[in-house]
Order: sequence, then structure tokens, then C-alpha cells
Amino acid sequence: MRLLILGGTTEASILVRRIAGRRDINAVLSFAGRTRSPTPPPIPFRIGGFGGVAGLTTYLIERKTDAVIDATHPFAVQMSRNAAAACHDLGLPLAVLTRPPWRRTQDDRWTSVADMAAAVRALGGQPRTVFLTVGSLGLAAFADAPQHRYIVRTIDPPDAIGILLSHCLIVARGPFSLENEITLMRDARVEVLVTKNSGGTATEAKLAAARALGIDVIIIERPAPEPVPAFEAVEDILTWIDAHRPTP
Ligand SMILES: NC(=O)c1ccc[n+]([C@@H]2O[C@H](COP(=O)([O-])OP(=O)(O)OC[C@H]3O[C@@H](n4cnc5c(N)ncnc54)[C@H](OP(=O)(O)O)[C@@H]3O)[C@@H](O)[C@H]2O)c1
Repeated sequence: MRLLILGGTTEASILVRRIAGRRDINAVLSFAGRTRSPTPPPIPFRIGGFGGVAGLTTYLIERKTDAVIDATHPFAVQMSRNAAAACHDLGLPLAVLTRPPWRRTQDDRWTSVADMAAAVRALGGQPRTVFLTVGSLGLAAFADAPQHRYIVRTIDPPDAIGILLSHCLIVARGPFSLENEITLMRDARVEVLVTKNSGGTATEAKLAAARALGIDVIIIERPAPEPVPAFEAVEDILTWIDAHRPTP
């Protein structure tokens, strides 16, 4: 069975490790190429965009792909949309492997917003110290609120960091411990945390730290998912893959 796995997430890496030893699955893992030095996976992989729906469609045909797993990040909207369109056009089975969103507890001080622009507005007019963990591409929106001091944490150094007048950059890759997050937020005198509702355990401790310190959180909720079967457990996606094996 020839499979394309759209990756760039922990979930994709876990799935790939599970199918690496299977002779009956010939899978390719696809990265967008955003991370400067991704860890090489134990299966064949490719790096870079396909060239929109048309490029992806051509790739799927040329590689005689039987099914596609969209294991991209919940905020990778464009890739998911392209996968849904190409698979629909070709009549190919497509399933999503995703992680559950973070859920608010009664001790949280969350403000939920729909997008980055709304997060900027929710910060308000008064200057605050903001812990910004929205990824490199999300930073640009915060140039509209130069009154705040930004503690920015990204995996790779962002090209656009200079657009934030007052900032301190932390380049680090999770997982982060609760102790680390509490120390960071307390020492930097963080007043508000801004994050996407990515879910997962690697970066979850910042929410627990904000809860412990009584810090406000502005949380950007997930965009609506594509209407395709979605699974949170790797076991379930493996069952789905087996059920969509082409008949010989
Ligand atoms: N967005 C996040 O917060 C976030 C966080 C962690 C990891 N990631 C990962 O980083 C990658 C890029 O995220 P994004 O939000 O920039 O995506 P996006 O906005 O949905 O995608 C933009 C374009 O990047 C290319 N692309 C995205 N994912 C790809 C993949 N796995 N393989 C090949 N091409 C891909 C596609 O280009 P073409 O149209 O040319 O095919 C797509 O149209 C994704 O793989 C995602 O899983 C994203």
C-alpha cells in the first residue's frame, strides 16, 4: 500500500515509527521545510511544498498513492485544505491524525479568540509584558501593538523579529517543564501569555504555569477542520489504514 503522510508534528513522527517496520506499507513522509534541521525519519521523506492542489494532485498520481494521512499541525489550514481537495478530486481515501485541543479548567484565566488579529486586540491598549508563543509566522500581527514588551519564544530564530519594537527572543524547542515555565514567567514578569490552542504535551506546561501564577492567557482557538475522518489515537489511524488497503 502506497501512503503519503503529511507531517511536521510529533503525531506524524509517532505514526511513522509504528509503520517503519511494516513491509506491506510503502510510505513517504512529507515536511514543509519550515524547521531548519528536521530529525531524519526512519522511512523515505521529502521536503517542500507540492505546488498547491494541482502540484499535490500530480504527485499523488505519479506516485500511484493509495491513501493520504494528514498529520499536519491543527493550524496548518492550507495544507489540510489542499489535501482534502486533491483527495476528493482523485477519489483517494484521506484521514486526519490530530491531537486533542487543550481544555480550560476552572482555575484558568483564558480569553479565547478566533485569530491572531483578535489576540492583538485582546491585549488592550495599556502596555503589558507579553509571553508570545505563536510561532514565527504569527509575530507580524503584533507589530500593530508596539506599546507591549514581548518575550518571544520560537523553535528557530525568526526573520521578522525586528518588527517588534520591544522584545526579548528565546530560541528553544520543547518539551518544557512546569518548573522551567514558572521560572521563566516569574523572572520575566510576564503579565499575559498568548498561544494557539495547539494541544499536545510538549508545550502544555506554560498553561499550568500561567494557572499557578494567576497569569492571563489569550488563546487562539483552532480553525474549523476539514470534513474528513479524524483520529486522535495512532492505533485508530492504523486500523483506518488497514481498512483502506487496496484490494489486490
Ligand atoms: N501552523 C503551525 O502552528 C505549525 C506548528 C507546528 C508545526 N507545523 C508544521 O509546519 C508545516 C507548515 O505549517 P503551516 O502552518 O505553514 O502550513 P500551511 O499554512 O497549511 O501550508 C502552507 C503551504 O506549505 C506547504 N506545506 C505545509 N505543510 C506541508 C507538508 N507537511 N508537506 C509539504 N508541504 C507542506 C504547502 O505548500 P504547497 O501549496 O506548495 O504544497 C502549503 O500550501 C506543516 O507541516 C505543519 O504540520 C505547523
